[in-house]
Amino acid sequence: MHASSRSEIEPFYVMEVLKAAAARQRSHGDALMMCVGQPSTGAPRAVVNQAHAVLDSQVMGYTDATGIPELREVIAKHHRDWYNINVTADDVVVMTGSSGAFSLLFLAAFEAGDTVAMTRPGYPAYRNTLSALGCNVLEIDCGADTRFQPTVAMLEALDEVPKGLIVASPSNPTGTVIDPDELAAIARWCEAHDCLLISDEIYHGLTYGRAASSAWETSKAGVVIGSVSKYFSMTGWRLGWALVPPHLRRPMEILSQNLTICAPAITQYAAMAAFGEDAKPELQNHLERYAVNREIVKAALADMGLSSAPPDGAFYAWCDIGHLTDDSTAWCTEVLETTGVALTPGVDFDTVKGHRMMRFSFAGSTAEVTEALGRLAASPLLQS
Ligand SMILES: Cc1ncc(COP(=O)(O)O)c(C=O)c1O
Repeated sequence: MHASSRSEIEPFYVMEVLKAAAARQRSHGDALMMCVGQPSTGAPRAVVNQAHAVLDSQVMGYTDATGIPELREVIAKHHRDWYNINVTADDVVVMTGSSGAFSLLFLAAFEAGDTVAMTRPGYPAYRNTLSALGCNVLEIDCGADTRFQPTVAMLEALDEVPKGLIVASPSNPTGTVIDPDELAAIARWCEAHDCLLISDEIYHGLTYGRAASSAWETSKAGVVIGSVSKYFSMTGWRLGWALVPPHLRRPMEILSQNLTICAPAITQYAAMAAFGEDAKPELQNHLERYAVNREIVKAALADMGLSSAPPDGAFYAWCDIGHLTDDSTAWCTEVLETTGVALTPGVDFDTVKGHRMMRFSFAGSTAEVTEALGRLAASPLLQS
């Protein structure tokens, strides 16, 4: 007996680093998790209160496969309010995290053998999930000159028009944002070329001065992906959604019925409170903390001689460590073993240049971020 060849995909190395960091915490008690894109804060108080209340009042049975109608309406309103666009509950498909939305969307939209484009560097689970589904992944090499983001000129230069294109703005691992005009041009290009644009907008709300626009402001032919994980500080609650064009709604519903049945009921009921007025001050506080962390990180990295992408949003610094190593995995392991600071090796995000890059997440508390930077600054591994 053996496992399928489809499952022979790369690990999601962040999760492997997290495992090593947890082991370090058990053995030394000094681990600092700068490796994971996860707020150190819990869900907004309003969500927790709502969860307590619904536990006593709801059966928590299966829900509609695409989410309870009230939540879908709340999410639709969220998009109407933030982007001044016309979105209805019918457009919204609720899933188990944006990760669940991606798997179902890829299954619904692409045949095995289809080519789907994404940026390099980019979020590894796109590549690995598409590979497991038998799709060909076309990586578009994006450098600092375009803020590590794709442009229409790059799409024009491709040998073939891909069946789909995934963009993320703000992006993981770089935190960079696509200019609204460029995103609009990409959305128009995709619509004109019958290429399904998948716009990962799960870091929206977490920007520092540079506005992130939504792909649906230009074209509703593509898909927008959202999640409560990042801005709403609810990673483990596992709730995400997709805004989908009509031809994908029923296929995604049927796939959801069969593959997951529905997203967790308690999360669906509780998450509605995340979009309400009561949660706003808390979420604003988190954003302000990330903004403070970002300034501290930028200054400290510059002092250490590390150049990084301009983090317009999210909570990541994508750093060049090429003068220190050409094996980012071994280097990050050594940093963890000698300092207790967990960093993510760049190979997760960039299969070509990632061995000379690492990602630092500043999603944690300011105290933790400051302590981690102090330990790194004192480490011989950071001296070239
Ligand atoms: C760009 C991007 N998309 C999607 C996800 C998946 O998030 P979730 O499944 O928690 O919504 C992540 C997680 O880090 C991410 O960075």
